Amino acid sequence: MSTSKTKDRYQIAVVPGDGIGCEVMDATLMVLDSLGIDFDYVYGEAGDECLERTGVALPDETLDIIRNADACLFGAAGETAADVIVKIRQEMRMFANLRPVKSYPNTNSLFENIDFMIVRENTEGMYIADEEQYTDEGAVARRIITRKAEERIIDYAFRYAVENNRSKVTAVHKANVLKKSDGLFKEIFYEVAERYPDIATEDFYVDATAMYLITQPESFEVIVTTNLFGDILSDEGAGLVGGLGVIPSANIGEDAALFEPVHGSAPDIAGEGIANPIAMMLSAIMMLRYLNENEAADRFEAAILKVLNDANVLTGDLGGSATTVELAEAVRNNL
Ligand code: NAI
Ligand code: MG
Repeated sequence: MSTSKTKDRYQIAVVPGDGIGCEVMDATLMVLDSLGIDFDYVYGEAGDECLERTGVALPDETLDIIRNADACLFGAAGETAADVIVKIRQEMRMFANLRPVKSYPNTNSLFENIDFMIVRENTEGMYIADEEQYTDEGAVARRIITRKAEERIIDYAFRYAVENNRSKVTAVHKANVLKKSDGLFKEIFYEVAERYPDIATEDFYVDATAMYLITQPESFEVIVTTNLFGDILSDEGAGLVGGLGVIPSANIGEDAALFEPVHGSAPDIAGEGIANPIAMMLSAIMMLRYLNENEAADRFEAAILKVLNDANVLTGDLGGSATTVELAEAVRNNL
């Protein structure tokens, strides 16, 4: 969680990347600049174009910029996405991946009244991708669960609940089959829970959770889970509230945090000025909350809500015909 106090100025690393990453970033900064907070933007390069021009997709200078900033806004990379974003997460030891699942009006959300956060462990589990050579029988992958990393992510989820007025944390695992690794995860969950007596707890198997996300999505507040399960459930969550144009995310480390839309560089619409900037804007709102600028975050989010409710200025993915800039102007006018 953010340890930084509210400051007079923030240094923000801005990495627009490729394609619509640049377009939605410009639109978002336009609104951020109207909130009355002093941001110093330090631009970093990364992505396909950067690779073409400089020979590297993620220059060391960009990593330094992110390291030295209070937070980072990232747009999207193209084909180099894995080399860029995965490397940033590893270099900055970003252990928590946050994916909010929240329904907004006039989007393609399948439900109303959904508002929960998926807190996914991002450093171990199945995705250490420790696959030995093929064996005689096939292949073997190892799944690592450490007390240290799981306690850190579970504690993060409880602190998130406290700081964001959530009353319940749900642990998701498969401890009936993975008795040792997920048994440990579940055990740690209830140990950590004792430190947070005001927060209610429950735990579900991952397969059941996949169903509950559809049958009772409004019952969740904060979900905490291991790497692979979190990856799958967060995309299921994205499907529930509809559309890449409105899904933000955050990656949090001990001393660095990066906020990015879930979508990519969208080469099919890049350069046309019609990308939906809301996913990037909601990512910036997550950044504001991380910086404890909650009043500004509320104002920004309310302005987006107003634009969605009015439904006069929506981009093509939401059934409208507005441009990226027109939508950003509408949000700014509603601040
Ligand atoms: P994508 O997210 O770029 O696009 C998928 C579809 O959604 C496209 O039809 C696109 O036009 C639409 N879309 C996405 N964002 C939108 C927005 N804000 N407004 C309106 N429509 C939007 O995913 P795709 O096509 O699989 O990948 C394109 C490139 O992006 C690839 O090079 C891929 O490697 C990269 N990528 C990068 C990511 C990152 O930087 N974190 C994540 C996902 C993909
Ligand atoms: Mg994923």
